[in-house]
Amino acid sequence: MSTSTLVRRRLLQGAAVAAAASVVRAQGDPLRFGMIGVGKRGNAHLTRLVERSDVTVGAVCDIDPSARDAAQSAAQADDPRSYADYRELLRQEDIEAVLIATPCYLHAEMSAAALEAGKHVFCEKPLAISADQVKLVLDAARKSNAVFQIGQQSRSSPHMQGVVREIHESGLIGTPLVIKAQRHSTPSRPGTRRDGGSGQQRRFPGWYNDVKLSGDLIVENAIHNLDVCNWLAGSHPVSVYGHGKRYLPEPMPAGTVMMDGFSVEYIYNNDMHLDYSQLYLHPRALKILPNGMWFVIYGDKGTIELDYSSWTFYDIYGDSEPVEHKGVEGLDLTEEAHNDFVRAVRENRRPIADIEVAATAALTSIMGREAIYQQRMVTWDEMGVAL
Ligand SMILES: NC(=O)c1ccc[n+]([C@@H]2O[C@H](COP(=O)([O-])OP(=O)(O)OC[C@H]3O[C@@H](n4cnc5c(N)ncnc54)[C@H](O)[C@@H]3O)[C@@H](O)[C@H]2O)c1
Repeated sequence: MSTSTLVRRRLLQGAAVAAAASVVRAQGDPLRFGMIGVGKRGNAHLTRLVERSDVTVGAVCDIDPSARDAAQSAAQADDPRSYADYRELLRQEDIEAVLIATPCYLHAEMSAAALEAGKHVFCEKPLAISADQVKLVLDAARKSNAVFQIGQQSRSSPHMQGVVREIHESGLIGTPLVIKAQRHSTPSRPGTRRDGGSGQQRRFPGWYNDVKLSGDLIVENAIHNLDVCNWLAGSHPVSVYGHGKRYLPEPMPAGTVMMDGFSVEYIYNNDMHLDYSQLYLHPRALKILPNGMWFVIYGDKGTIELDYSSWTFYDIYGDSEPVEHKGVEGLDLTEEAHNDFVRAVRENRRPIADIEVAATAALTSIMGREAIYQQRMVTWDEMGVAL
């Protein structure tokens, strides 16, 4: 699908949501949330939500009683009810919105059930870990008048939004041709992974290393980066090749435990090419290829070098001096994502990270994983999901 068709379809769908939405709530009332899954990430959401005056936390749900109790205490000012079964929470009529932060394999089932129960949904990434699951939620979202937002908070970054505008509206780099992107980090001690936010080594929960529950590294984790690549490309991939494995503590083939390194090459619908690599073998001190997360977008007039805090434009023939632009410092993107969700509910409109963004990113990651597992080229059409 061309970018203009995608944009036109988005606008039409946005208008349809706005016209059809029948959210029965007074505009000034706080939005009443139910939290489903209050582990590490669920708590990061909860502590931000309880600080807001336009939100209350009416219920918490977790299969782990100690997580439920901790969440009830953290939200005690709102006096939330507590549930062990998310279906029971969904039957509560006063709960208008749910925030789902359970392990990845549960996102699709829970999101679809919540949409069918008429709740607005903020679901952590990934939307789903299989193409069938993507279809399940997409169908539910298309039948629903409720707002759906995915936890791909890079979409809420004004810095990233600005670069996308430079590429697609200002035409700064001319026709975009190629993206190179990476997420490289230092090796982790066995049984631990480096936490993206704090930089600390921490033991990950049991579901994380089980690829049947997490979807593997490319779906659970790289989805953030691949989503940004889709956004920069203004398109979705049509095919992908890849290779990856678990390198440490000793090599294991992909599909057994979570990979700690992979490379994928996507061709996009608009013929752009993406070369993405993620590797946890990368000493911090390397000079030629720096550690960390970055994106380089090459066009026929110039190149943009981008990370999460700044971007620089390089003229293709070096006729002008490179100019570095700094992003806004200290912005909490999770809070920005909450702002967009609450406004989207109030204004009966789609959020920035909507169901199409969620489904496109999930399918991009899933097809990449399948290319790695099956050691062959996998196509978008094979996913069998119409977007
Ligand atoms: N957007 C981001 O930057 C970001 C960052 C970290 C994690 N995440 C995502 O958030 C999700 C949760 O990750 P986490 O690190 O908090 O994991 P976690 O294991 O710390 O928390 C998951 C919680 O879900 C609960 N749970 C499991 N099954 C349940 C069920 N059937 N009903 C109710 N609760 C259930 C667990 O008991 C646990 O408390 C994952 O999908 C992860 O990918 C997103």
